[in-house]
Amino acid sequence: MRRALVTGGAGFIGSHLVEELASRGFEVLVIDNLSGGDLKNLESCLNDPNVKFVKGDLLDYETVKKAVEESTTIYHLAANPEVRVGTRRPEVHYRQNVEATFNLLEAVRKVGEADTLVFTSTSTVYGEATVIPTPEDYGPLKPISVYGASKLACESLIMAYAYTYGFRALIYRLANIVGPRSRHGIIYDFIKKLKSNPKELRVLGDGRQNKSYLYVKDCIEAMMVGLEKSEEQVAILNVGAEDQLEVREIAEIVIEEMGLKGVKVAYVGGLEDGRGWVGDVKNMLLDISKLKALGWRPRHNCRESVRLAARELIEELNRSK
Ligand SMILES: NC(=O)c1ccc[n+]([C@@H]2O[C@H](COP(=O)([O-])OP(=O)(O)OC[C@H]3O[C@@H](n4cnc5c(N)ncnc54)[C@H](O)[C@@H]3O)[C@@H](O)[C@H]2O)c1
Repeated sequence: MRRALVTGGAGFIGSHLVEELASRGFEVLVIDNLSGGDLKNLESCLNDPNVKFVKGDLLDYETVKKAVEESTTIYHLAANPEVRVGTRRPEVHYRQNVEATFNLLEAVRKVGEADTLVFTSTSTVYGEATVIPTPEDYGPLKPISVYGASKLACESLIMAYAYTYGFRALIYRLANIVGPRSRHGIIYDFIKKLKSNPKELRVLGDGRQNKSYLYVKDCIEAMMVGLEKSEEQVAILNVGAEDQLEVREIAEIVIEEMGLKGVKVAYVGGLEDGRGWVGDVKNMLLDISKLKALGWRPRHNCRESVRLAARELIEELNRSK
């Protein structure tokens, strides 16, 4: 039986992936240090005898080595995904993203039986692309955040290891992924702020940041289609919706879904050019024709993804009160 290793499997996207793999009958080993994730995210599948959880840190080589042994497909999602962290503490992204990936690759090279590595990269590797929608072969890549740079460094290492040591690699460049269990990003942030002050929502930047958002289950489906259908040894695939949404529209949707009236939306605390923070890309839309040619289509547009995610997250946060 093929065993899947999911790093970061107790996190937002990782836990949805583990559920999907378990439902397809795979044996799944999850490794997560629970720095950003939560075992509650895996509640629905921890009783499944095919799913095993190990609390461990990718920076600890011995732990990684053990996890990699006997795993044939590795889904590498563990990372620090917060763009803003890197502005104040760049070493976090260097260690949690680049060093952790290097450790994993070394284990794959030395002990693994793995023939496939799947990596969740990000639209932020493109920086402020001048071609919108941005295709995978756009260049030069000039990330404007340490987070984006760290993921691009991971991509490079993965590609070089795949070609040098002979395994398959799928690199997914994800747009903003939204949905239940997310504990970072714009929707979670707005809900938290509105819960503490239902009269005013303070939005970072001018609210005109225009980006692409995709519902998490669409993202998991995209990852499965890419894995099954792509024939390249190293495939880079954009994953996102085909449209964009402005931050101020997301604010409206979250307010509506929370059933609030008369909320004052204040655009404060951002940078002079309207972005929310240093490293915030104001205009992002990915060209997804490569994945579409493999047979995948997003089931939701941005507005639907954001509304669904907001509704489900609000319910989830109300339940966990
Ligand atoms: N959510 C998005 O919109 C988005 C967009 C683009 C790319 N991504 C990428 O997708 C992946 C998953 O993101 P997410 O949104 O689910 O974030 P998340 O924080 O929910 O998941 C990351 C998981 O990795 C774990 N982790 C972090 N460092 C670790 C380490 N050193 N050892 C073991 N476990 C560790 C955390 O505990 C967490 O459970 C990340 O690689 C992220 O960069 C996410």
